[in-house]
Formats: sequence, C-alpha cells, structure tokens
Amino acid sequence: MDFIEDTPTMRLKSRSLKAECKKIGFVPTMGYLHEAHASLIREAKKRADAVVLSIFVNPTQFGPGEDLDRYPRDLERDMKIAGENGVDIIFHPKSEEMYPEGYSTYVTEETLSRGLCGRSRPGHFRGVATVVLKLFNIVEPDIAVFGEKDYQQLMVINKMVSDLNLDIEIVGSPIVRDKDGLALSSRNEYLTEEERRQALAISSSLVEAREAIAAGERSPRKIREMISKDLLLHKDIRIEYVEIIDARTLAHVKEITPPVVIAVAAFVGKTRLIDNAIIK
Ligand code: PAJ
Repeated sequence: MDFIEDTPTMRLKSRSLKAECKKIGFVPTMGYLHEAHASLIREAKKRADAVVLSIFVNPTQFGPGEDLDRYPRDLERDMKIAGENGVDIIFHPKSEEMYPEGYSTYVTEETLSRGLCGRSRPGHFRGVATVVLKLFNIVEPDIAVFGEKDYQQLMVINKMVSDLNLDIEIVGSPIVRDKDGLALSSRNEYLTEEERRQALAISSSLVEAREAIAAGERSPRKIREMISKDLLLHKDIRIEYVEIIDARTLAHVKEITPPVVIAVAAFVGKTRLIDNAIIK
C-alpha cells in the first residue's frame, strides 16, 4: 500500500495506473475509519482495479463552533484498516496544500444543498462539494463510492458530477449499522455510554416508521410525529429535523409515495448524529 501526502505524486501515480489501463476506484473520507468505511472500500475494490482512499479532515465543511478541532484522528489505525481491506493508495494531503493562503474558489450546488443539513449547517455542502471536486481532480478516479448514511451529500455530489460534466461514476453504498442498530459514525466516539443508549432511539424510530409505512401509513405528518415522540422520550436528545422527502428532489412530500427518504438529524448531548431510511 502506498502512502502519498502531496498532490503531484498522487497525480503521477493515478496517471501511471491509467497508462496501465487500470480502473481507479476512489473512497473519500475524513479518517477515523470504521466498518462502514471498510464496506465502501470493498465496494470500490469490486468495481475497480486499484482503490485510492483519501483521509482529509476538510476544514471548509465545518462551521464556526463545530468539531473541526476535536474531530477524532488515528492515522495508524486507519492505515491498518485500509490495508486489511485492500486499499492500494492512501492519499493524505496537508491542509496547507489543499487550501494555501489566498485560496478563494468554491463550488456551490444551489438546490439540493438548501434544506436538511444545509439549513442547519450553512456552508457545509459548499465545503464538501469543493473538497470532493478538488480530490476528484487530483485522483482522477473512474468511480467514487459514497455512503447512503449521508444521503443529501450523496445527492449533492451526484448533482455536481452531472452539472459539471465530470466523467466519474458515483456509487451509493448502504448504511452500515452496529449490531444494536446505531448507524456507524466517527462521531459515535464522542458519546458517553448513556448517550449511546439514548441514541439508539434514532435508528429504532426509523425502523418503526418504515414498518408503519409498510403497513399502509401515507401521512408524512403522522410519521414525523411518531418519530419525534419517540425521540423526545430521551432527555439528552434534541431534534434538529425529522423530514420526509422525495428521494430524487429532496423536496418535502405531501403524501408518502416511494421512493422517499425519512431523514433525521439530532443532537445527543453535544454530538450531532444523522440517520435515514430509504423507502424504495
Ligand atoms: P466521512 O464522514 O469520513 O465519511 C466518508 C464516507 O463514509 C462517506 O461517503 C459517508 O457517507 C460514508 N459513511 C460514513 N458512515 C457510514 C455508515 N454508517 N454507513 C454507510 N456509509 C457511511 O463524508 C465525509 O467523510 C466527508 O464529507 C467527505 C465526503 C470525505 C468530504 O470531506
């Protein structure tokens, strides 16, 4: 496994793989890898000849007062997990190289990024789209894999790729959960034992909602109330949003007609978690 920290070397490596007609699969991450990242790596491995994994805690997608400074990092462990899952190249750029002094160009998707996390985290998707486009330009992948846990992110990237005519196939990969249902996230690290127990209400309320829809419930209001009621039973949970949206446009639906997504964002103590259920 190669470990690359600068852009020219990464580009050279990608170009030489291409010269050998190798298909490049790319998995962008902010590190502190867990089993969900590993599943994206394996998905990329299935679809490509060489897998590049980027590890970069991207400052431009964090708002003031968010957790940029305390975002968990463990490069040694990340390298071990990457190696075990078949990563060929780790790209670990430096912030000074990605955003040198005077950096002033950003990518803004103007429709899908507006609601949900875009509303509560202004500028977040601008930071995500910017860094992902930069990484795409450096790595030049044929395919790139993103998790469905960050459903809005996946849709924004898809839209950017289509709007900006990028020749990259975007692959969505299903949510990976712990045995008890909690969606894996690097941020779960912040939870106390008690908070983690309460956080389970997020995934369990989504399961209940899915069951209610399967049993015929079509009112978004009723489903939202059901989930909110569940979450509010827990003293450390503060709901940011519970929304039922069209899976393609991310617009609110008046009636539940699949494909829709039930998307939840909530603080558990000081930790912000998101989860969703895609109803196909
Ligand atoms: P990060 O939070 O490290 O996530 C990297 C990738 O792993 C994303 O595509 C995310 O959707 C996926 N992922 C995380 N938890 C998951 C889970 N439980 N199930 C399935 N997929 C999961 O998302 C980012 O980093 C950044 O915004 C990034 C795209 C790297 C840009 O900086």
